Amino acid sequence: MRKKICAGNWKMYKTPKEAGEFFDSILASLKSNVKGGEIVIFPPALVCESVAKYVNGSSVHWGLQNSYFESKGAFTGENSPDVAKAMGATYVLVGHSERRKIFSESDSLLAKKVAYVQSIGLTPMLCVGEDLSERETGRTNEVILGQLDEGLKSADRKKPFVIAYEPVWAIGTGKVATPEQAEEAHVALRERLGGLGESTRILYGGSVKPENAGELAAKKNIDGFLVGGASLEAKGFLQILSSLQ
Ligand code: 13P
Repeated sequence: MRKKICAGNWKMYKTPKEAGEFFDSILASLKSNVKGGEIVIFPPALVCESVAKYVNGSSVHWGLQNSYFESKGAFTGENSPDVAKAMGATYVLVGHSERRKIFSESDSLLAKKVAYVQSIGLTPMLCVGEDLSERETGRTNEVILGQLDEGLKSADRKKPFVIAYEPVWAIGTGKVATPEQAEEAHVALRERLGGLGESTRILYGGSVKPENAGELAAKKNIDGFLVGGASLEAKGFLQILSSLQ
């Protein structure tokens, strides 16, 4: 049985104070028994310290939205995954489409990040997803399976990793994939993982909201969500979490 994950990617939103307000609400609700799966929050790097103060020692996990693939050195502006680990992080998001598109991160760079993150005992969450023209020209599987293969090229497949399927055309657009479209992509990814498919958690991301989470969560191969906009508000995020029960 794969344990479900409800992950929130805060992107470049929230101050430390706003993060505190979010967790006051989330942690109180978790005490009163809101269930649905493992919660993972990816705050902006500058907010990680505040998040760690709130959630370390609770059932909530947190991670970096992006990291470098070395522990330290002359890499101006980069985040050390080792430092994040020392602060209590357990996950690192790798290859979000915004990193791929806006910051031109290549599959080969992402493969190094996945391998390094695993080597220090953190869990990489590798994002894959096709853009609209790739979908419309029937290339969805070719693109996402290619990103999967390349991203895991140097991975230790015996160590944990999580996959997030995030179609680029669904991110921040309000245009969510249908449960059938998402399920089809998840099945293709799971099959490609071979013997590891059955145990690997594959999350869906892209315009997940409290209103559409239930029908997506009902699909057999959707093991949870990577939520952007709707993870910024505690009430909606908890509703999405509950849909995973
Ligand atoms: P939205 O939920 O805002 O579409 O963002 C999805 C996403 O990019 C999560 O990583």
